[in-house]
Amino acid sequence: MKSPKLLLSLFTIVLLSCGGSDDDTTEPEVTVDPDPIPEQTSTYNAHVKTIIDTNCIECHGTPLQNSAPMALETFQEVRNAVTDRNLFSFIETNNGFNVMPPSDNGGRMPQATIDIVEDWIADGLLEQ
Ligand code: HEC
Repeated sequence: MKSPKLLLSLFTIVLLSCGGSDDDTTEPEVTVDPDPIPEQTSTYNAHVKTIIDTNCIECHGTPLQNSAPMALETFQEVRNAVTDRNLFSFIETNNGFNVMPPSDNGGRMPQATIDIVEDWIADGLLEQ
C-alpha cells in the first residue's frame, strides 16, 4: 500500500502545475487613451486612410515590398492589423528597431498623427 505522504506530495505537484497558467504578465498590454481627440469622431475614411496611404502602403501594398508581412490597403486589412497584430504598438513605440514606418533615425511619426490613429481606435474602429 502507498504511504499517505507520497499521495500528499503527488497531490501537491498536481495543484502546483495547475496554477502556472494564469501568468499573463509577460506580454505588455497596449493601452489606448479613452478619447485622445474628444472633439472629433475619427473614422477610417475621413482620417486614417490618408495616414496609412502616406506612411505604410509603399511596403504594405500589393505586391508587398521589403518583406512586409501583410497588406494595409483596405479598411478591413487595417482594422484586422489593429485587432490581430497590435498595429498601434508598432506606431507608438519608442523602440527605434520596431517602429512603423521604419525610419533611419528610429523616430516615430508626429504625435498628432499617432493621436489620430489612437482616437480612431478609441472611437470604435469606424469605417465612415
Ligand atoms: C519600409 C517598409 C515599411 C513601411 C513603410 C511600413 N512597414 Fe510595417 N512592416 C515592414 C516589415 C518589413 C515588417 C516585418 C518586420 C517587422 O515586424 O519589423 C513590418 C511589420 C509591421 C507590423 C507587424 C506585423 C506582424 O504581425 O508582426 C505592423 C503592425 C506594421 N508593420 C504596420 C505598419 C504601419 C501601420 C505602417 C505605416 C504607419 C508601416 N507598417 C509602414 C515594413 C514596412
